[in-house]
Amino acid sequence: MCGIIGYIGNKEAQSILLSSLGRLEYRGYDSCGIAVASSSIKVYKDAVRVEPLAKAMPQLSGTIGIGHTRWATHGKPSQANAHPHCDCQDKIAVVHNGIISNFHLLKQKLISEGHNFTSETDTEVIPHLIEKYYDGDLEKAVETALHQVKGSYAIIVLAADETKLIVAKKDSPLIIGIGDRENFIASDVPAILDYTNRVIYLEDGDIGVVTSDEIRIKKEGREVDRKEHKILWSVEDAQKAGYEHFMLKEIHEQPKVIRDTLGEYAQATEPNVDLERIRDAGIESILILACGTSYHAALIGKYIVEELLRIPVRVEIASELNYYGQIPAGTLAIAITQSGETADILRAMKRLKGVGGRVLAIINVVGSSASRIADQTIYTRAGPEISVAATKSFIAQLMVLYWLMMSYSKVDARRLASMLLGLREMPGKVQQVLDNEDKILECARYLSAYENVFFIGRGINFPVALEGALKLKEISYIHAEGYAAGELKHGPFALLGPDAPVIAIVTQDNTYEAMLANIKEIKARGSPLIALAKEEDGTIEELADSVITVPKVDAIFSPVVNTIALQLLAYYTAKERGCPIDFPRNLAKSVTVE
Ligand code: F6R
Repeated sequence: MCGIIGYIGNKEAQSILLSSLGRLEYRGYDSCGIAVASSSIKVYKDAVRVEPLAKAMPQLSGTIGIGHTRWATHGKPSQANAHPHCDCQDKIAVVHNGIISNFHLLKQKLISEGHNFTSETDTEVIPHLIEKYYDGDLEKAVETALHQVKGSYAIIVLAADETKLIVAKKDSPLIIGIGDRENFIASDVPAILDYTNRVIYLEDGDIGVVTSDEIRIKKEGREVDRKEHKILWSVEDAQKAGYEHFMLKEIHEQPKVIRDTLGEYAQATEPNVDLERIRDAGIESILILACGTSYHAALIGKYIVEELLRIPVRVEIASELNYYGQIPAGTLAIAITQSGETADILRAMKRLKGVGGRVLAIINVVGSSASRIADQTIYTRAGPEISVAATKSFIAQLMVLYWLMMSYSKVDARRLASMLLGLREMPGKVQQVLDNEDKILECARYLSAYENVFFIGRGINFPVALEGALKLKEISYIHAEGYAAGELKHGPFALLGPDAPVIAIVTQDNTYEAMLANIKEIKARGSPLIALAKEEDGTIEELADSVITVPKVDAIFSPVVNTIALQLLAYYTAKERGCPIDFPRNLAKSVTVE
């Protein structure tokens, strides 16, 4: 949940660490800090964002250093709880992402042995344990310390008297960026793209020694080779490119994301995803699991599978699947995760694998932990998504689901051909939604004055209502709820009235008449109503207070255009309310805790 960075080379570490931390803020941003070593360790940290920290910071000279941006789990955001954390003599500094589940016991024991603690964090036990075992061999001391530790970690260890960094990983992501007589360590690729695109992904159990010109990695005491990957994202991909926020840039990238994701699979005239390792295994049912926005893609996936494959589909929130639920034989599990690092989904995937399940993963981040657990991975091509609120990764997930299910479809050739055409037209249709920003902005201004909003949809657009509500609440802090349109009268009607606007997603399919009836019922209860409807609907204009038009598409693809309109609605509403759009309070991009 936090971001960590390390640098070792021939340049001053301070500015590299700070600029890389700025790129990691989406992982956590309630406090941050760095430590730089040159014979002694100097630490500077506070409960502020990276920019004010950098402005207030004195010059810390040295060419080896570590940094951290925090999303608090143990102890409130404060200077004392910010990382790096040090041992008693300030000779060892550590940055950590993850959770040490047995820290309480370890801390008590270390205190009884004379160690002084200055924070409430779980992390602080790590430098003290290393101090306890350090007798000149830092790597060995880290290894021994980690044997005592339970939980998850990605750590970088800096010692005053050493010209190396020690890194270790278990259940939290960590990469090494390879430079020219310099090396980088980070939680994620965007942190180091300014300096290198050559990356090694560490695996669970790896402990590495990194100097400016050497990288040695061991697992269970044996040296291991980890493959070097070339990152194809450019620095510009991970920057704002003139947009005010990453979220707006990422929303506007969606026509390209659709082209890139389909381009990966859709050069052929027929849908052609090859489930090489899973095919022929006799798939009788499908279980889709995910969290948050990816869960909404999973729910839409259910409708797609049922229409195209006509086999039963179960959709589960990954964190729920961890505590209950049997997996029948013959079930293919599809795990959907943008980051590939979400703790809940990793745990669910491991559980499925543990009972002999086959897991296909749909992931955006190449080399992420989920891809190493899955039997097979299909990558979305959304590029780096920096804004905490997921937008383009969601649309890319839908594209993979459409293409995958079309590959195995049982519908007739004519229907399939018309769907293919529909998919090819999708980037242009999405562009039309993006070109309709003025109308969406007008509705956003109106919505920004309210504190409670309902989103309703039916059928394949019910999950879109859930996603519209999630997007609005997370970035504008307006309380929003998504409902199946038919459910409002079973309780939520009690809340309707002039203070509770409703956004109705109206699609030209078999749900249309029922939606019109629902809209009339809502209007009769006095709620302001904004409809999302296709161009030239005609009827809606008379019923709704305002209409955001979206282009006509095949109903199965309507979640794409509808969601993008709702992403923009959430964005402009949050902007109108002056919210920190890319970094909403209490949230982080990659949720690596359960
Ligand atoms: C909401 C959002 C989150 C994520 C969720 C799962 O905008 O971004 O709800 O969708 O944390 O993350 P991934 O897809 O990385 O597993």
